[in-house]
Amino acid sequence: MLTGVVAGPVFTSPAVGSILAAIRAVREVGAVGILLIVKNYTGDRLNFGLALEQARAEGATVEMVVIGEDSAFTTLKKAGRRGLCGTVLIHKVAGALAEKGAGLNEIVRKVLAVAGAMGTLGVSLSPCSVPGSRPTFQLADDELELGLGIHGEAGVRRMKITTADKIVKTMLDHMTNPSSASHVTLRPGTSVVLMVNNLGGLSYLELSIVAGSAVRCLESRGIHIARALVGSFMTALEMAGVSLTLLRVDDELLNLIDSETTAIAWSQPTKVPVSGQRRERIGPKECPEEEEQCFPAGVQFSPQMRLVLDSVCNTLLSLQEKLNDLDRAAGDGDCGSTHARAARAIQEWLTATPAPVDPSKLLCVLAKLLLEKMGGSSGALYGLFLTAAAQPLRLDNDLAAWSVAMDAGIEAMMRYGGAAPGDRTMLDSLCAAAEELRALKNPKANLMQILDKAVERAEAAAESTRNMKAAAGRASYISSAHLEEPDPGAVAAAAILRAVLEGLQAKAE
Ligand SMILES: *[C@@H]1O[C@H](CO)[C@@H](O)[C@H](O)[C@H]1NC(C)=O
Repeated sequence: MLTGVVAGPVFTSPAVGSILAAIRAVREVGAVGILLIVKNYTGDRLNFGLALEQARAEGATVEMVVIGEDSAFTTLKKAGRRGLCGTVLIHKVAGALAEKGAGLNEIVRKVLAVAGAMGTLGVSLSPCSVPGSRPTFQLADDELELGLGIHGEAGVRRMKITTADKIVKTMLDHMTNPSSASHVTLRPGTSVVLMVNNLGGLSYLELSIVAGSAVRCLESRGIHIARALVGSFMTALEMAGVSLTLLRVDDELLNLIDSETTAIAWSQPTKVPVSGQRRERIGPKECPEEEEQCFPAGVQFSPQMRLVLDSVCNTLLSLQEKLNDLDRAAGDGDCGSTHARAARAIQEWLTATPAPVDPSKLLCVLAKLLLEKMGGSSGALYGLFLTAAAQPLRLDNDLAAWSVAMDAGIEAMMRYGGAAPGDRTMLDSLCAAAEELRALKNPKANLMQILDKAVERAEAAAESTRNMKAAAGRASYISSAHLEEPDPGAVAAAAILRAVLEGLQAKAE
């Protein structure tokens, strides 16, 4: 793309001497003609202009193009359009033309035409600061700055923060508004290269969200996006912002933009599939067919089961903060939120769908729900537990079968989760309860008495995790000196069992 680059101090034009040194260096390696590509800032125009004159005096063949594709200003007074990220496209086109053997004058003529067919506009959520100095401007938390330059200078307009779609629409409206002196002319059917440029502080996630908004917005106006470039092409230190560049293209120009380069900072443009051939949003289907079969029409949900599930959900929601606190000491602090997410998913499902009476089907549906919505390792482990527990209940539904189901669930959790009782995980609570529940296999068993004991054992086991060394799960990464609280997963499992008991004790209205 480029043969040489001259860097000045941060945000400052390089000195004439540096530019001259670069020109001489490029000449020495055999350049027959040299093109200076300069962004339109006074200091740059002066220093590069002076260097050009001196180099010519030394006999060099040198030309200069000044790029100003800034679309921020609606009226152009003394301050002309600044050179922004679109300049990188000029580097690419000029480099490709030179590589193809075009002469210096032809390159100048062509890149000036390209420069006239583009516009750039930036937006930012933050200023930036030159190392060691204060931020270049002030911006409130809920504001963004539109139309800024690449040296930390403030923009032309300040807006309240809003969604990416709305911000991008405002930007594109501004850039293409025919009454603005610096607009890019776009008509339905126009082909463009879209450049989405990180001003420094954005993640790829955020950059891609902006790129998606820009693609949708342009296509809705009938613009054809021939290529999209997304990346960090021209940054302003750590500025948390993005600029959009639009360049009108024909096939010849596209060819130059597509041509190969070894420049490492250039990322190959993406061909954007036209909207009809693109699946806009891929997500879980609202109501998978398989699940339908799980709910034979007309089957009523046992009122007692409903009380049990309500009780479990309410318990988990009320414990959210406590579990998060416990988890903050041992893990990433999201245990309560994960369980609350499961509770909300179950509540939503209970209001939307008639649930099955068949316990095996109920567990299988709950498993699917948790696997889909709960997330985290708890989601996977509870999903495994319920899936395995559902199996013994397909054949029998007596009390003994529930004990077998509990053991089957725990066995699956241990097999895939890699933990055992004593490892400071939810298994400690579940295994303690399971031992008591085996009494259900006695034909004269009293469900409520046994369950009561099982819950007490589970709660004691959860409490005892306080003194355990973590061998699996979240806390095993933490030095045990920092573990003084019980394991949140074990506490949650015990609380779920207590909630099941209370749900069974509750009287249906
Ligand atoms: C560069 O800026 C000056 C004003 O500083 C303006 O007169 C000129 O037209 C601009 N050039 C380009 C190429 O935009």
